[in-house]
Amino acid sequence: MLHQLYQGLIKHLLGWLSAACGGAEIDARCCRLPPNHHIHLFSKGIICLSCISKTKHTQICHFHLGICLPNNLNLLNDTLDLFHKNKDIFIDLSIHSNFNLSKLYAARHYSAMIMMFGTMDNYNTEYTERLHIDFMKDTYHTTNHKDKFVQIMQWLKCEKIMRHDKYVNWRYACASEEVSGLTCTNEMSQPDKHLMSSTSI
Ligand SMILES: *[C@@H]1O[C@H](CO)[C@@H](O)[C@H](O)[C@H]1NC(C)=O
Ligand SMILES: *[C@@H]1O[C@H](CO)[C@@H](O)[C@H](O)[C@H]1NC(C)=O
Repeated sequence: MLHQLYQGLIKHLLGWLSAACGGAEIDARCCRLPPNHHIHLFSKGIICLSCISKTKHTQICHFHLGICLPNNLNLLNDTLDLFHKNKDIFIDLSIHSNFNLSKLYAARHYSAMIMMFGTMDNYNTEYTERLHIDFMKDTYHTTNHKDKFVQIMQWLKCEKIMRHDKYVNWRYACASEEVSGLTCTNEMSQPDKHLMSSTSI
């Protein structure tokens, strides 16, 4: 990977793309990337880097195409169109009979939604999937496994009240700190951050 692809091909490609898009613009786009767990941010840009390691190359490849491609949303639409034009092959081969899938329908709206509401800033619904463990699996184990739906809903209701109570207290604390001239920036006093890191409620 390092010698054949990263240093053999990608290195050239990065150079050519910098020449085509402008190094300063590429660096500016690197700086504008929102922070995310799975993306290493190069806050000083990537153009000035020399002797790039395999790890850095991998990190750069994660986002480089995204920041260089013009008209990403058109490309998204074009690719989707191409899929729709050709999807009947699965029917012809008797692999699948219809494409009545809500997720496929939703995919048509991604680009319009991004234009309406802005970029997703690396938002990923996998993060909320994590709550499935707290709110479904762990909750299930607190029940006696009979009438579990009712018990789970009851448990979640208590959970909601408790969190709301914490939120209200946090807002009160903020308000009184503001009155006394302090600003509410203490991270630990924010209920959500605190709760997200704790599963033992
Ligand atoms: C992509 O297609 C959708 C509808 O299919 C449309 O609403 C949207 O404006 C298109 N996006 C672009 C960038 O053309
Ligand atoms: C598509 O699926 C929905 C929900 O399962 C159903 O109500 C609808 O009749 C289906 N449409 C077609 C054309 O199969």
